[in-house]
Amino acid sequence: MNITQIKDSKIFGMRVQQNACSMILIDNLINTNPEITQIIELGTGHGALSIFLAMSGMVRKAEINTFDIIDPDYIDQFSRFGITYHKIDVLSDTAQEIIRNAISKGRTFLLCDNGNKKEELLLYYKMLKEGDFLLVHDWGYEIKNKDLPKDFYDIYEPYNQADFDRFKTRILSSIKTNHKSK
Ligand SMILES: C[S@@+](CC[C@H](N)C(=O)[O-])C[C@H]1O[C@@H](n2cnc3c(N)ncnc32)[C@H](O)[C@@H]1O
Repeated sequence: MNITQIKDSKIFGMRVQQNACSMILIDNLINTNPEITQIIELGTGHGALSIFLAMSGMVRKAEINTFDIIDPDYIDQFSRFGITYHKIDVLSDTAQEIIRNAISKGRTFLLCDNGNKKEELLLYYKMLKEGDFLLVHDWGYEIKNKDLPKDFYDIYEPYNQADFDRFKTRILSSIKTNHKSK
């Protein structure tokens, strides 16, 4: 079995729309940065990744907020994992307010995985704080280098990107550093 080719696979028996390696790399990112207390998923999908993210941040009691316009399949499990689900358009003013508030509470891990990654990224890349992590799924497919804002690499640096590429995760992984704006 080539593990990088497992797509739309299952985790804990639940359908997930990530390659199997993405979850290992995401868990590694979260747990090698124990100051992360806010986990935000834009685009819940079935909801299995939300549960995985909640488990990943569980030992440090990280808050997890996940957003979708369609109720996830595994919504009944969310309360067991302390997941807050918001049925809302992530591009709406109300969602922006909820997300701004979550980001303001502590070190943040934000995954863009909804239907319009370009719009989502534009809305939220400035909102994150220095030291926060921004990941975008379907990198190279639904969103490419040419779609990034001009100042993106002035304020973000790749984070473990070589691993995310090597294991064909289709994830852009970055940390906000503001290095060129200092
Ligand atoms: C690819 S799925 C998310 C998969 C999930 N993150 C995972 O890894 O298993 C994308 C989700 O984005 C949701 N979506 C699309 N447009 C949205 C919007 N404007 N606001 C919130 N959710 C949206 C869709 O309903 C869909 O469930």
